[in-house]
Formats: sequence, C-alpha cells, structure tokens
Amino acid sequence: MIYPIVKFGDPVLERPAAAVKVFDDELEKLVEDMFESMYAAHGVGLAAPQIGISKRLAVVDVTFKEDPNAKLVLVNPEIIHSEGRQSQNEGCLSIPEFREPVARPRRVTVRAQDVHGNLFEKTGEDLLARALLHETDHLNGKLYISHLSALKRDLMKRKIRKLMKAGQW
Ligand code: NI
Repeated sequence: MIYPIVKFGDPVLERPAAAVKVFDDELEKLVEDMFESMYAAHGVGLAAPQIGISKRLAVVDVTFKEDPNAKLVLVNPEIIHSEGRQSQNEGCLSIPEFREPVARPRRVTVRAQDVHGNLFEKTGEDLLARALLHETDHLNGKLYISHLSALKRDLMKRKIRKLMKAGQW
C-alpha cells in the first residue's frame, strides 16, 4: 500500500515520535509499505511521521533500488557517533520542490533495531550519513530546515505559506 506523504505544516512532523515496542507482522507490513511509498515518491529515505504515523521507524535506500543490500530499516534509531563535516544540498519529501545546502557530519554511526527487534550498528559516510541524520531528526520532530539560518528558513516558510494560500501545497 502506498501512503500519501504528509507535508510541512502538519504537526505530526514536528512532534517527537513514540518508541516502537511491538515487533510483529503489522510492523513488517508497515515497513514494506514504507519502502513502497518512499520509492513511489522518488525518495531515498522516509520516516513514519511522514506518512502520519508517529512512531520511531524509518527506511533508507540511498541507492534507490540499485542495491537490494542497501535497504535499511531503522527502528528506534539513535546516532551514537559523528565526525567530520560535509555540506550538500538536502531536500525532504515533506517539503517538495525545495532544496538547500545543509552542513552535516560526514561520517556517523547509528544504533537501531531491525524489524525483528535485533540491535545493530551501522556506519555511513556522505549521502548515507546525511540520510541517517535526516531520518533520525524526523523521529525527533526535527526537519532539515531547522539546520538553516533563520533568514533562509523564514524565507522558505513564507514561500510555503503562499503556496498553501494558493491551494498548491
Ligand atoms: Ni525528510
């Protein structure tokens, strides 16, 4: 099932999500649906709040279907190490049509559970590091625009409000 993506302005995106405690068939189905929804929206990462489900769950595939082994399920993820610095354009499926350079650590390690509840750690660099940080931020109710200057963020918000008024958001 493909879920519609929740857009900026919906409070579910700016609320910390609740920990996942039950690892059952329902969670497995949700993860499948999240991958399907992410690919349908042409994204490389999707957090559950972006489909209106306030749970600490995200999926990532920075290869966009190219490498099946790159599919990553992050349940209750936590960034436990970060180092270096990179600045690249970043976007978000919940803030379509906008992209801005965001400074992030270049290499991070995340600790998370898989869909069965097993703990694992994963280290990623560059785009994967960015995705791990971006998705973990989502679960804390934080959007990438919070890493921009207040000036840039306010400008973006003004443009979005205009789109909302015009019924184009
Ligand atoms: Ni996002």
